[in-house]
Amino acid sequence: MPHTIRRLRRPEALELAPRLAGIYGRAMRREAEPVDHFESTFRRCVGEYDGATVLVASRGEDTVGFLYGFDLQLGHWWPQQIEGPVRAAGHGHWLTEAFELVELQVTPEAQGLGVGSALLSRQLSEMPHQRALLATDPDGRARMLYRRIGFRDLVPDFVYAGTSYRATLMGWERRAS
Ligand SMILES: CC(C)(COP(=O)(O)OP(=O)(O)OC[C@H]1O[C@@H](n2cnc3c(N)ncnc32)[C@H](O)[C@@H]1OP(=O)(O)O)[C@@H](O)C(=O)NCCC(=O)NCCS
Repeated sequence: MPHTIRRLRRPEALELAPRLAGIYGRAMRREAEPVDHFESTFRRCVGEYDGATVLVASRGEDTVGFLYGFDLQLGHWWPQQIEGPVRAAGHGHWLTEAFELVELQVTPEAQGLGVGSALLSRQLSEMPHQRALLATDPDGRARMLYRRIGFRDLVPDFVYAGTSYRATLMGWERRAS
């Protein structure tokens, strides 16, 4: 069955928050507490942040995946975490005119069928930003997908301050046409 992708308006995205949290939990195999945390963060960011964007993928009646993010602003939590290492690596300009890609998740049953690639391609082609930034598991399969779509490593061995949580920071940049 083919999938369709659509961009949600803010009220519809907030209404769908519990369903998207469920997809997040199943995709990431998380227990209840982090899923609750996902939902409250999603509601706050989508409700308040400039450029908040939510795309959903459906197959028939089922929502099988989503992507969300917003304008990257240096006062927000994640940019504060990454700014120093990104600048130290000589990539400071990546922090301007950028989209912060927070989540890309596809239900386990629908993984490997092109849904994640389609969500990401749609966002990169339609967004007004020059760049997109994300953090991913250095050892995860998603990293290959991001590379295939044109993301490059900015900081391969990033560690969140005060934790042992590792990530690879990746960026995509629009080519001059
Ligand atoms: C990563 C994810 C969003 C990709 O979406 P998808 O619809 O499965 O991906 P596509 O079918 O468009 O593309 C397949 C590619 O994605 C990558 N991939 C990552 N996880 C995968 C999975 N569980 N199954 C299949 N492909 C996966 C691979 O690079 C794969 O390419 P390959 O077949 O050459 O190995 C999705 O698999 C997912 O939600 N995984 C679990 C949660 C996660 O890791 N999210 C990303 C957080 S940064």
